[in-house]
Amino acid sequence: MSQRNIAIAIVAIVLVGIIFLGVAGARREAQPQTPELSGINSADAGNTQLVSAGREVYSTYCQACHGVAFQGNANIPALGGSSSTPTRSDAELFAIVQNGQGNMPAFGNSLSDTSIWASLAYIKSAWPVDIQQAQEALNE
Ligand code: HEC
Repeated sequence: MSQRNIAIAIVAIVLVGIIFLGVAGARREAQPQTPELSGINSADAGNTQLVSAGREVYSTYCQACHGVAFQGNANIPALGGSSSTPTRSDAELFAIVQNGQGNMPAFGNSLSDTSIWASLAYIKSAWPVDIQQAQEALNE
């Protein structure tokens, strides 16, 4: 190899390296920046970090169907405090979101368990406290 070719090869390797690091960095940023939430296994509406992560999940994945105020529509159930949702335990709600049900799509492949718990914590945080407490009793 001539010196010129060696120089070109080095420049090419450096450029590929820079592109690779850029892509890897962008991928890292796409992950949720909430390591504190790893290991979450309940829809704790009192966990403000979980609720705020859930707000993001809900607005991206759920709101188009269930509505900004959890009101649903003619074909889609409401998820608010006066709906049937608080009559179900956390485990039942988790299973519905993970596996889908009827015309509700399954999210087990597109959302992490933590993101599913977070979306449920956000939904529950909008319920009146007495409804939250009654639903909490179903989890015991
Ligand atoms: C394509 C529209 C659609 C999307 C998107 C959607 N849902 Fe649903 N969801 C439904 C339908 C329809 C049902 C009723 C399913 C049935 O027939 O039992 C339902 C039911 C539910 C229920 C059970 C309510 C109850 O009281 O029985 C929960 C909880 C729920 N969805 C949460 C979510 C969450 C959380 C997301 C986002 C991660 C989401 N849904 C995204 C359409 C949707």
